[in-house]
Amino acid sequence: MTHAVRMIDEHQSVEAELVRPPLKWAGGKRWQIQHLLEYWGPLRDRRLVEPFAGGLAVTLGLNPKKALLNDINPHLINFYSWLKVGLVITEEFAHKESAYYRARKRFNDLLVMGEQGTAEAAGLFYYLNRTGYNGLCRFNLSGQFNVPFGQHPKLTYKYDFTEFKSVFADWTFTNTHFKDVPLEPTDFVYADPPYDVEFTKYSKDGFTWGQAPGQTVD
Ligand SMILES: C[S@@+](CC[C@H](N)C(=O)[O-])C[C@H]1O[C@@H](n2cnc3c(N)ncnc32)[C@H](O)[C@@H]1O
Repeated sequence: MTHAVRMIDEHQSVEAELVRPPLKWAGGKRWQIQHLLEYWGPLRDRRLVEPFAGGLAVTLGLNPKKALLNDINPHLINFYSWLKVGLVITEEFAHKESAYYRARKRFNDLLVMGEQGTAEAAGLFYYLNRTGYNGLCRFNLSGQFNVPFGQHPKLTYKYDFTEFKSVFADWTFTNTHFKDVPLEPTDFVYADPPYDVEFTKYSKDGFTWGQAPGQTVD
């Protein structure tokens, strides 16, 4: 099943077919795209940089030719990196509490074994994001994913992500602190940092307002 949507803006002479963000992500800014197009339209040949890429709602909505997309969450970037080379999930997902906790345990076992960069980890990350509570991405202090099962009335899963291969072809993904994202003078930068509230800690190495660059969060 394809999730393509159509969007037209005054700077595009033809309709662009855009793919939907593949994950649910806290703080998604899809609603801002219509306002951003005014600024992006005249500069659309520039490289788009998102130091806090999150769910990619903005980049997928603006559809740049070139992009540098960074996030401090390594699992998110691992997932996107697999989409870039073409991810097809062969394991069947079940929308059941027991299956969710089995998958969560398997994902955490992969982290312990140092296999967080595998296609299996990327597929499980997608399933946990879709099936867990509110699409949250939360880890305990030992680095284990601990989001509970979400009560969704109905869920469908995507298995074939190959449509992202061409979309991501000239987009680079990095997993670092935003202060280390290398910028060029001509970049178009869209920066959407986490909200200043306790619950939006997206990875174990997020930042707080009192924190100096390089310091980690407890
Ligand atoms: C509000 S969300 C971005 C949402 C995104 N604009 C969208 O539309 O989906 C903020 C993102 O910043 C990331 N983040 C938090 N601390 C960071 C840091 N120090 N450096 C880079 N990214 C960070 C989080 O992992 C999260 O994905």
